[in-house]
Amino acid sequence: VTADAAPLRWEGGALLLLDQRRLPAQEAWLRCETPEEVADCIRTLAVRGAPAIGLAAAYGVALARAGGGDVEAAAELLRGARPTAVNLSWAVDRALSAADPLGFAQRLHEEQRAADRRLSELGAERFAKGDRALTHCNTGPLATGGFGTAGGVLRAAWERDRLAQVWVDETRPLLQGARLTAWELGRAGIPFKVVADSAAGGLMARGLVDRIVVGADRIAANGDVANKVGTYPLAVLAARHGIQFYVAAPVSTIDPDTPTGAQIPIEERDPSEVSDEGNAFNPAFDVTPAELVTAIFTESGVLEAPYAESIARVLALKGG
Ligand code: MRU
Repeated sequence: VTADAAPLRWEGGALLLLDQRRLPAQEAWLRCETPEEVADCIRTLAVRGAPAIGLAAAYGVALARAGGGDVEAAAELLRGARPTAVNLSWAVDRALSAADPLGFAQRLHEEQRAADRRLSELGAERFAKGDRALTHCNTGPLATGGFGTAGGVLRAAWERDRLAQVWVDETRPLLQGARLTAWELGRAGIPFKVVADSAAGGLMARGLVDRIVVGADRIAANGDVANKVGTYPLAVLAARHGIQFYVAAPVSTIDPDTPTGAQIPIEERDPSEVSDEGNAFNPAFDVTPAELVTAIFTESGVLEAPYAESIARVLALKGG
């Protein structure tokens, strides 16, 4: 695979997934022939990142339809595989109502690639030569099947000579930053340094961070943003230090049916991912209030406060 090769593809009537649990040590591909196998890969993070799990689930609906089983039950299983990223239920519902779910999944993949490119270009315009940007989790090609969201913005900024270096939060507990973002940036030839999540505040205090860009798993109608746990403290620190805090996400990550961040379901994963002692609590996401977000980069434009209005406008544009 190259830096922007898709982590998922349809081949010979099956969905092939690059097993992200084994990166960067191994590049192993999994073959899913049933929706149950796809749901399992989503739950266990073989495929992860909001747009990528939406795509995988759409292919899962296609497998259900081809297999001739109970498509509604399969869709329910896929929808329930992870709760926070709205792209998952959004993609499943649309695949379910499509006459040809496979054609739909393939179109969705194309749309994702185009959306990533566009929002990345728009985001890169906010960057300036010499910038040192900090990011959290993994939001590149592995997370979207395209160019990436926040990862795409960083790549586009690099290509336009508007980026000097990336600080990569290791992203406890599953190390999506240290394992996956570092792998992608290395392949793209973008200079980066991995830091412990808890180092971010100190870096900001020392003037070593010019801007922060992260992805999103769900954006509420008021602009509150759910993203990988550890994002909210970054936003608070950014405000403390007067640093721009950007979110990059396709419009499909905005959920008009979730009024505020308080209604976003936060996935709680197995405590053993945090500690073997059995006394851990493991929320996988947190919510950043809209007031801490400088701008949201989407393929339909850059959204700014007041978010209730800019979001309503962009959804009306897409919907109609
Ligand atoms: O648990 P993960 O690895 O699926 O979490 C992913 C994130 O939090 C990403 O930041 C988000 O999905 C945006 S990806 C373009």
